[in-house]
Amino acid sequence: MSKRRILVTSALPYANGELHLGYMLETIQTDIWVRFQKMMGNECHYVCADDAHGTPIMLKADEMGIEPETLIEQVKVRHQADLDDFHIDFSQYHSTHSDENREISELIYNRLNDSGYIKKRIISQAFDPEKEMFLPDRYIKGECPKCSAEDQYGDNCEVCGATYSTTEIKNARSVISGAKPIEKDSEHYFFDLPQFEKELKSWTKAGHLQEQVSNKLAEWFEQGLQQWDISRDKPYFGFKIPGTEDKYFYVWLDAPIGYMASFKKLCDNSDLNFDDFFNKNSDTELYHFIGKDIVYFHALFWPATLMGSDFRTPDAVFAHGFLSVNGQKMSKSRGTFINARTYLENLDPECLRYYYAYKLTAKIDDIDLNLQDFKKRVNSDLVGKVINIASRSASFVVKKYNKQLSAKCIERPLYDEFVEAGSDIAKHYEARNFSKAMRLIMKLADKANQYIDEKKPWQLAKIEGKEKEVHEITSLAINLFKVLIIYLKPVLPEMAKSSEEFLNVDSLNWSDIESPLTNHKINKFKALMTRIEDEQIDQMVESSKI
Ligand code: 2FM
Ligand code: ZN
Repeated sequence: MSKRRILVTSALPYANGELHLGYMLETIQTDIWVRFQKMMGNECHYVCADDAHGTPIMLKADEMGIEPETLIEQVKVRHQADLDDFHIDFSQYHSTHSDENREISELIYNRLNDSGYIKKRIISQAFDPEKEMFLPDRYIKGECPKCSAEDQYGDNCEVCGATYSTTEIKNARSVISGAKPIEKDSEHYFFDLPQFEKELKSWTKAGHLQEQVSNKLAEWFEQGLQQWDISRDKPYFGFKIPGTEDKYFYVWLDAPIGYMASFKKLCDNSDLNFDDFFNKNSDTELYHFIGKDIVYFHALFWPATLMGSDFRTPDAVFAHGFLSVNGQKMSKSRGTFINARTYLENLDPECLRYYYAYKLTAKIDDIDLNLQDFKKRVNSDLVGKVINIASRSASFVVKKYNKQLSAKCIERPLYDEFVEAGSDIAKHYEARNFSKAMRLIMKLADKANQYIDEKKPWQLAKIEGKEKEVHEITSLAINLFKVLIIYLKPVLPEMAKSSEEFLNVDSLNWSDIESPLTNHKINKFKALMTRIEDEQIDQMVESSKI
């Protein structure tokens, strides 16, 4: 098969807070898929960026007494360190507050405007007369018009569940200044989504979305598409709309364009060609990994924006479910709202990568990180099964056979069974059914351990004349370990690297499963991972409590 050319993205995290284990689910899922593609010999680029615009970022910087530019720079450094330490291998990590993004956002806007897809009209909105800014719903609080509960947000009541408009809330006040909001008119710019209804309907049914997602979309189509408000008045941290002095692009307009901008930056620093991946008729592939909460933006607004500005649309949008911890919504008081950094201070990133892989499917069902199950699963599968194969065999080869693997790979049917399983494992990786892939790999690991248990090389080693047999058994075990490490490499890149050193081989690719190592010198075995202890988990939870 010819080499595929693939561009992949994960959703862009906002530049005003720390990354948590929920976001890591997404980048780990994406990174595994990207690493798998590369191991198969495909060209695969993975881009992302910080989502740097919008009211919350502007207000947070305000509160801290710094410029938003300073805030987003500081946050980006921390985000990148976290992602790096979880071994997320981006080709490019950029920011939406960049020249590339400004240029492409303006280009897209101008094309949409020239084609008649931008409409203007005056709307009336809540305005904070003290802070002199329009107030998004979440910045207004008051009493619920239905049940009179106090301190409820501007658009819905957490006590009785009512939804309402901000004008209905009683004794409304601005969360920012405490002032009573007034109603004020202003001209807004709208993207005329309904013009794309027909095209979008067929796009959303054409296999670009998961079944659960396209069903959801069918409901939205039934409710009718609305024009999308893409402008915000000053003060706002974002890009000015061309031809205006005080209107800015709403953050959600330029955020997905940030995917293109990040890729543009990558192209500018390499010999990649931007048009190859974004021209309307390009034969490359484009995939977006996202959480199910932002499907509306990625399956409606985003393809329509691209259609209207004459760019290609994505081949697929892959949504995943939410992360719960110990069966419940992540909670700061329970210590289960865990930041990426807090995890890293206590545990090995590859343990989480494995556990997520073990749980991930191609569906949008939520995923639970049960901390006890996490410990048991990692200790039993990785330490107890996979690593055990190498650790119990390596010492023979190293001490008794001068680190040299046997000349012959015995039990060829067993080895072949390991190789043949590769095609199903690869299919599951490709289809994002990582959970199925992990189960198949662990079945093989069980087989390898059974083989060693049956052959009992430690007993044979005591019998004179059995040296060759012991050599061949332990060498085969190491070759089986090598196949398993290849299968696990997209999930466990660091363990794979240490294993490559142990096996004394170059960077392993998928096709290396075919050829067992014979007459080959390995290196001394070093522990590849240590068991997770309860104290590490307790410490992480304790540090996450507020
Ligand atoms: O929901 C969020 O966290 C957004 N920052 C995601 C943006 S993804 C893309 F569209 F930029
Ligand atoms: Zn209420």
